[in-house]
Amino acid sequence: MKIAIGSDHAGYDMKQYLLNELVQQGYELKDYGTHSTESCDYPDMAVPVCRVVSEGEYDYGILICGTGVGMSLAANRFPKIRAANVAEPVTAQLTREHNDANVLCLGSRVIGPLLAVEIARTFLATPFSNEQRHKRRIEKIEALSHCPDPALNR
Ligand code: RB5
Repeated sequence: MKIAIGSDHAGYDMKQYLLNELVQQGYELKDYGTHSTESCDYPDMAVPVCRVVSEGEYDYGILICGTGVGMSLAANRFPKIRAANVAEPVTAQLTREHNDANVLCLGSRVIGPLLAVEIARTFLATPFSNEQRHKRRIEKIEALSHCPDPALNR
């Protein structure tokens, strides 16, 4: 399993902690930065992480900013990316089982490092349910990217 990880300055310390823990647990990770606590812009790290997941080079992405919100907004612009902003393990499990989420977003100002590790481990260990109703719903989300909305006159 190959994982791409990135953060902004607010998520830097949590990224370093999580990276170290997950490598020790045998996961293969590539760090797409940032590489210090100097202020930077979260889309700049969301882009390379989501690109390699979207292209199938990496299985999952993990993105960390202060709230997880900015990263999830940026990530969900990418084709084939289903990014979930998660703050507890139940959602980590269900977003894998139901949504087949492939990018995990975390808020370093919202949760602590131990909870982040537990969430990431749950997310990475949980398979998609493969149930038809969940597949159908994901296909409907995917179709939104290609479907002009008549209510918007385009
Ligand atoms: C940075 O101050 C902060 O805005 C960013 O990390 C993130 O929380 C945005 O959603």
